[in-house]
Amino acid sequence: MRRVKVIERRKEAKDTESIYFEGCSEALPGQFIMVWLPGIDEFPMSLSRIGRISSITALKKGAGTEALMSADEFSIRGPFGNGFSLCRGKEKDKEKEKKILIAGGIGMASLLPMVARDDTVFLGAKSKDYLPFVDEMRARGADVRIATDDGSCGFKGSVIESLPEHLCSERIYACGPMEMLRSLYEHGIDAEASLESYMKCAIGICDSCTINGFVVCREGPVVKLDRIFGSR
Ligand SMILES: Cc1cc2nc3c(=O)[nH]c(=O)nc-3n(C[C@H](O)[C@H](O)[C@H](O)COP(=O)(O)OP(=O)(O)OC[C@H]3O[C@@H](n4cnc5c(N)ncnc54)[C@H](O)[C@@H]3O)c2cc1C
Ligand code: FES
Repeated sequence: MRRVKVIERRKEAKDTESIYFEGCSEALPGQFIMVWLPGIDEFPMSLSRIGRISSITALKKGAGTEALMSADEFSIRGPFGNGFSLCRGKEKDKEKEKKILIAGGIGMASLLPMVARDDTVFLGAKSKDYLPFVDEMRARGADVRIATDDGSCGFKGSVIESLPEHLCSERIYACGPMEMLRSLYEHGIDAEASLESYMKCAIGICDSCTINGFVVCREGPVVKLDRIFGSR
């Protein structure tokens, strides 16, 4: 556990803020840290930017994320988890190949470190006010396609409904709520996805994060969807 100072904050969307701090420069895209705010809570956050200065991006949900948005410093453990396979070991040289990234709202935070020129990003949110990182991803040269539940920006409907009928690529990465990931799988897309699950220890001993026998904090959070939803 170490204490870090907030170096900078950036508003990304409604109720959504990036918090910059020094550290985690060796982390992989898809890894997460545990953020501890004394007297309030400890909870997992994906690294949304990785470097000498890294960031996490919080969507205000409850007491933890609300306190994070006004803290001058906080404590962290980690980084934990496996990260996306593209960024690990032998796969690393394929990092520049075109990818398809599919995210629901704040799920985009864990995918953001991978977004590069010529990638296609499908991003969904409840309305245009809740779409994070769009300008930044377009500035990197990605083709960002938007879906909103209320039709206030882009396709009207869910991000899964907005996908083209035959989405064909070996490199499809996703992050979002479980229902979104299940729907993606049911559409025949066996993406590599980062899972959200209730976490406490983050090191594989308390069993609070396990989904269908998969220990999300230790074996994941990134996994092929068929490991979670069963092979076709
Ligand atoms: C690997 C991973 C990465 C994540 N990355 C992000 C991110 O980048 N940005 C973001 O905004 N959110 C992220 N989350 C979700 C975030 O950790 C939860 O929404 C967290 O509970 C928010 O805390 P809160 O007190 O504001 O919200 P609340 O929902 O009010 O929390 C209520 C209670 O539920 C508990 N709780 C709820 N969900 C979780 C959880 N997943 N793990 C542990 N405790 C939980 C909290 O401890 C708290 O006591 C991630 C979750 C996981 C598993
Ligand atoms: S959070 Fe304790 S086993 Fe995963």
